[in-house]
Amino acid sequence: MERCFAMLKPGVLNRRIVGEVITRLERKGLQLVGLKLMNVSDSLAAKHYAEHVGKPFYQGLVDYITSGPVVVMAWQGDECVTLVRKLVGATKPAEAAPGTIRGDFCAHTQHNVIHASDCAESGEREIALYFTEDELISWTDESACWL
Ligand code: PPS
Repeated sequence: MERCFAMLKPGVLNRRIVGEVITRLERKGLQLVGLKLMNVSDSLAAKHYAEHVGKPFYQGLVDYITSGPVVVMAWQGDECVTLVRKLVGATKPAEAAPGTIRGDFCAHTQHNVIHASDCAESGEREIALYFTEDELISWTDESACWL
């Protein structure tokens, strides 16, 4: 079973659309195995975006996710990363299709409302950055046969 990390960035909380965004991921049939509201420290943000150090938008990415509380999530399912990223939409809001989270809820790349892991390995790395093992809940999905 594949896992994907996702983060609802501070603008999502400010705009009161946390539930709406989570609903989209949940209704797809993905299994939520980790969820929390937290503040991201500068050092955690630096670890999260380590691969982007030196890029012109790096500091903006760090400033955005440290500017207020975020909601972090661990999702699980077959082809979870691909499914989450389809729902999230393209990185640039102008290229994100209507019906996707970025296509519907944001207008600028630097405030693109949600982060999602780009591959299963990143998913595991990012889940380990934000969650302790105790915070990840394994539960039997009784509806799996219907999904
Ligand atoms: S992605 O979605 O992770 O595959 O996109 P990627 O192109 O690898 O980008 C990595 C993160 O950098 C952000 N990004 C930008 N921010 C501001 N301006 C520009 N031009 C820009 N290009 C890329 C992108 O939103 C990704 O951040 P997250 O937090 O994953 O959304």
